[in-house]
Amino acid sequence: MGRVEVAASITTADFGNLYRVVRKLERAGVDRLHLDVMDGHFVPNITFGPNIVSAVRRLSRLPIDAHLMISEPARYLDRFIDAGPDTITFHVEVLESDETKRETLARIAQAGRVPGLAISPRTPTSAVSDFVNLLGLVIVMTVEPGFGGQHFMPEPAPKIAEARVLLRDRPGSAVHVDGGVSHETAGVVGRYGVDVCVVGSALFQRGRDTAREVQAVKRAALAADLEQPQHA
Ligand code: DX5
Ligand code: ZN
Repeated sequence: MGRVEVAASITTADFGNLYRVVRKLERAGVDRLHLDVMDGHFVPNITFGPNIVSAVRRLSRLPIDAHLMISEPARYLDRFIDAGPDTITFHVEVLESDETKRETLARIAQAGRVPGLAISPRTPTSAVSDFVNLLGLVIVMTVEPGFGGQHFMPEPAPKIAEARVLLRDRPGSAVHVDGGVSHETAGVVGRYGVDVCVVGSALFQRGRDTAREVQAVKRAALAADLEQPQHA
């Protein structure tokens, strides 16, 4: 591995000035922007839809990850593709058929974007194994999806390593971890070989230096990864 990226989730940022938020994150050295789309149905919270994704796209050249926490990804997919994110991930738990999920992943790839599946804390990694040949990324959730600023759950973290094994024959693929990640918890996820740490509220805490937090997350994740015997 040797490199851990930070994707900034803007869920708990000030939406009154998206321009300033994006500039601040770019200056702080984040590697990617992570946009949490919530529909008030798949999760009990509403954030924003494709218009905001497209607004952020126009504000930044950083890679954008759209994390769709919505019940019907197939139905809204074209609008999210048009909004211009680099990756589009939806939840394996949605109640669409496996065939529809496969079609959706294929449509994302056909549009030149990276397709991903997210797994909630209580979902086993095996839930995505039938889709592996279509996947470019997996998001392992370490909070219940729905809200920023929740406490990190350590129990799902070993799924990062399981997802890495599943994706071993997918060149360029990545495992992201999402929920409650900060410099205090990044060591736990680094130990399992995570590629991308999604960090939200830890970047926006009053009085905290965002750039320093980005570096501290990367350092903690990398140090823990290097301690592992497979990298020795
Ligand atoms: C949770 C979202 C996360 C989250 C990240 O449903 O997918 O991206 O908002 O924010 P923190 O780091 O505050 O958990
Ligand atoms: Zn997310």
